[in-house]
Amino acid sequence: MPHDFMPGLAGVPAARSAVSDVDGQAGVLEYRGIRIEALCEHSSFLETAWLLLFGRLPTQEQLTQFTKDVTCHRRIKYRIVDLIKCLPEHGHPMDALQAGVAALGMFYPGRNVTDVENNYWSAVRLIAKLPTIVAAYARLRKGDDYIPPRDELNFSENFLYMLTETVPPKIWVETFDVCLILHAEHTMNASTFTGLVTASTLADPYTVVASSIGALKGPLHGGANEEVVEMLREIGTPGRVRGYVEQKVQAKEKIMGFGHRVYKVKDPRATILQEVCGRLFKETGTSPLYDVAVEVERAAAEHFEAKKVYPNVDFYSGIVYDKMGIELEFFTPIFAMARAAGWLAHWFEQLKENKLYRPEQIYDGEHNRPYVPIGER
Ligand code: SDX
Repeated sequence: MPHDFMPGLAGVPAARSAVSDVDGQAGVLEYRGIRIEALCEHSSFLETAWLLLFGRLPTQEQLTQFTKDVTCHRRIKYRIVDLIKCLPEHGHPMDALQAGVAALGMFYPGRNVTDVENNYWSAVRLIAKLPTIVAAYARLRKGDDYIPPRDELNFSENFLYMLTETVPPKIWVETFDVCLILHAEHTMNASTFTGLVTASTLADPYTVVASSIGALKGPLHGGANEEVVEMLREIGTPGRVRGYVEQKVQAKEKIMGFGHRVYKVKDPRATILQEVCGRLFKETGTSPLYDVAVEVERAAAEHFEAKKVYPNVDFYSGIVYDKMGIELEFFTPIFAMARAAGWLAHWFEQLKENKLYRPEQIYDGEHNRPYVPIGER
């Protein structure tokens, strides 16, 4: 019996999952039942990735081994470095990342997705190598040398080092790691769903993650963090916010970084990111973008509260990256580096009881139309 068509599958469960849960009315996000606030306070990105992949917090021995496995697999083949060198310097880093990840599958087939051991190593390689691909493109597109990873640096420290060839300050490392935890997973979002559709065909994990990267790039999804900072720079000062918001509302144009299909209150990740900004700015000095953002949130509330449209994760994240000197176009690739943990956790879960995604449609076209010869059209 066909179900009613729901645009964007709004409200339609597409899977059963235990990876994470969102209470959109209460503004609660849990990874494997643990509140995101607790993970941001006590965990690390790699420990959170293990939690997402395997369903429970790792023992010290498990975390040490996983950290060692990821650290050992950070390097990328010289041919992938050469591929990145050939990409246009003005291309978008999400395209470079998608190309690099798809190419990984040519070096590490991983085609037999029924092999659990092989799937573990595919997940390790993807979590380990996405940051290296992102950093490599950031360097090579400017004509700088590729900076290989340094094993003695932790996950976040090493990524920031590969961008600048400088070991970053401790506060940057701690801040960046919390950002990765916040972006690691979020139930059945568009990029996770995309990956699951690809995974359901039993495609290899590199192809699955490459397809998710494609979905994440869009400005309605992960691409919003880049658009938010562009908007904040365009507004320039808190004094110009009210006029800008009024104009967007009049023009019925959406304000990027606001709204969410599930949250009907402020995204808890946005609240944590504001706390992150507070800690970071204590050591680095504030960001003028942050003052503008807070004013946008205040001005937008007058128009959007009735529609339950509030800031989402993308509203404050770019301000943190901007303060660390990361280029705007790399905000979404950083989102992808973190979300790879969630995508792979759902991939592991789906393979346990896979069913090819093949929904129905409601046909709106005609039937039995004649073929009209071109001379008579
Ligand atoms: C992410 O799904 C996830 O979990 C995603 C994510 C994750 O972690 O994976 O949380 C990450 O993608 C966050 C969202 C990032 N995108 C943006 O910030 C882009 C701007 N936001 C909107 O495009 C929108 O809010 C969506 C796409 C996020 C959600 O859109 P929906 O659920 O399809 O809702 P809608 O567009 O139908 O809007 C419902 C109403 C509309 O008003 P009416 O036409 O009914 O009067 O709310 C309004 C919209 O106009 N609205 C906005 C708005 N977002 C919704 N109005 C102004 N500005 C906005 N940003």
